Amino acid sequence: VITFSSNDYLGLSGHPEVVEACRREALGGVGSGAARALGGTRSVHLELEAAIARFEGTESALVVGSGYAANVALLSGLLARGDVVASDELNHASIIDGCRIAGVTTLVHPHARPAELPPAEGSPRVWITDGVFSMDGDVARLPDVVAEAEAHGALVVVDEAHATGVVGETGRGTGELFGLAPGDRVTVGTLSKALGCSGGFVAGPAAIVEEIRSRARTYVFSTALPPPIAAAALAALRVLDAEPNRVEALRTQVAHLRTRVAELGYAVADTPSAITPLHVGDVERARRLSDRLHQRGFVVPALSYPIVPLGQDRLRVVVTAAHGYAEIEGLVEALGESGHDLP
Ligand SMILES: Cc1ncc(COP(=O)(O)O)c(C=O)c1O
Repeated sequence: VITFSSNDYLGLSGHPEVVEACRREALGGVGSGAARALGGTRSVHLELEAAIARFEGTESALVVGSGYAANVALLSGLLARGDVVASDELNHASIIDGCRIAGVTTLVHPHARPAELPPAEGSPRVWITDGVFSMDGDVARLPDVVAEAEAHGALVVVDEAHATGVVGETGRGTGELFGLAPGDRVTVGTLSKALGCSGGFVAGPAAIVEEIRSRARTYVFSTALPPPIAAAALAALRVLDAEPNRVEALRTQVAHLRTRVAELGYAVADTPSAITPLHVGDVERARRLSDRLHQRGFVVPALSYPIVPLGQDRLRVVVTAAHGYAEIEGLVEALGESGHDLP
């Protein structure tokens, strides 16, 4: 089967340099054996953190076990009960959970309309948004978010999970797309999507990163990232840095898929992400279409409530730089033949 749902956007998971870096580091042991402050830190963790900070253009960075753990680390490490956070209604579940764990008051604004934050006692300390919204593939209008956050004196945090390696000229994400220098902004990210590995990070001003490092429970009380994975992520960052044309190749693939799918009559949004949702009506239609595609050898999952809002059932097609022209054409043909007689 051919999968059109992987977030390994640049095909780096199987890149020879990434695999070799992982293999070599594994010869020294697979597990890190302990939390970072309790003997689990190896030089590769420090190298990876320095490389992430360089890539993001920030003073500092820290890595944790996943992107999910990174959002929890950021929110619980930086904030305390009673603090206020401003959040987009379509922000990722790990942001919602991070806010719950931190015990903060979350003010949720309608999707992509930060100016419509509900009134509350106390100003937000943190204004957090997905860079690319994971189920729709649209990009946050970062300049609007920054303007609102500045007006409230809040720190801007952008979760670039689906933007890193995809959005912006060299894949540096939403800030690059809008030409906004990192400044005091904090980036949360994952090593598990375009970087093809596993793990998560927080990058930003050193004082903020160090506060999170000393307080966040997903950092302090969790075993450090396996060194082979850290080495693999370091290699993936090197490849992305050295070969930014991979980002352009991905864009070409996505544009090709969208043109072809639009020819079938689907309404496709033109976004800078690699996520293409196909809205197909109800749960039943979405499942049947996904099943039919699977019978033809294509994995395209149907998404229904609670992953997406009720009544917004969809197929979510993710094309990567590793897909061949014929594979995309095959999917389009299967979509055309599978979708036309659905009730
Ligand atoms: C926006 C966003 N943030 C965070 C995560 C979590 O990353 P990870 O899978 O590395 O835990 C994901 C996806 O899984 C995501 O889509």
